[in-house]
Amino acid sequence: MKKSVVIGATGTIGSAVARLLKKKGYQVLAVSRKGDYPMDMENPTSINQFFSGAGDLDAVICAAGNASFGAFSQLTNEQIDLGIKSKLLGQVRVCRSALKSLKPNGIIMLTGGILAQDPWPETTNIAMVNAAIEGFVRALALEMTEGRRIVVVHPPLVKETALAMGMDGSLSPTASEVAQIYLKGINSYESGIAMYVNPDKEHQLNQ
Ligand SMILES: NC(=O)c1ccc[n+]([C@@H]2O[C@H](COP(=O)([O-])OP(=O)(O)OC[C@H]3O[C@@H](n4cnc5c(N)ncnc54)[C@H](OP(=O)(O)O)[C@@H]3O)[C@@H](O)[C@H]2O)c1
Repeated sequence: MKKSVVIGATGTIGSAVARLLKKKGYQVLAVSRKGDYPMDMENPTSINQFFSGAGDLDAVICAAGNASFGAFSQLTNEQIDLGIKSKLLGQVRVCRSALKSLKPNGIIMLTGGILAQDPWPETTNIAMVNAAIEGFVRALALEMTEGRRIVVVHPPLVKETALAMGMDGSLSPTASEVAQIYLKGINSYESGIAMYVNPDKEHQLNQ
């Protein structure tokens, strides 16, 4: 049985990814700060502890990491630091530890978001971080050996999140639909790329 790790496995996107991978026959280690397999991706010691006990892995998916929303002129230094420390550096550090456990031909999948390419007002922090993750992924792919791969998924606003925020979710995919792109990445030979749920639809959503 292929073994995977899903970080953020209790979240909107991560829970859908974990469900789909289980359905496809993967063993899934469901990771979050308060989950079955605890890890705080903002704490390097916690990340190392988790991966040193995780065994050999076929797939590591990170669907977690925080960043700040808000007008640039209003953001505090701490809010600006949040995206860098949590969503960006957290995922970078996950890669450093996960690579030691990743089997040949295994894959790491990070999560950004379409705000990297199609920002909305008041999204400087998250747009910056999403774009940085993509640059990191493109470069790290060039250093990976023995068929190991890395990609970033840029989800759009998912329906469940839109509805929870009181927004119109009618044009948004569900988390289950977004999860399909993670499966597609695992089953592909792609590396060093950004993956989208539906590139045409993404751009329509933001016009
Ligand atoms: N939802 C969307 O519409 C959307 C769109 C584009 C991009 N994204 C990106 O996709 C990722 C997941 O979003 P989501 O909406 O699914 O998030 P979510 O529903 O808020 O869930 C977040 C998950 O991450 C875990 N988590 C939070 N902080 C963590 C930490 N420091 N260390 C380890 N685990 C942590 C949470 O569990 P614990 O609290 O137990 O740790 C939970 O399992 C985020 O990076 C987000 O920016 C989301």
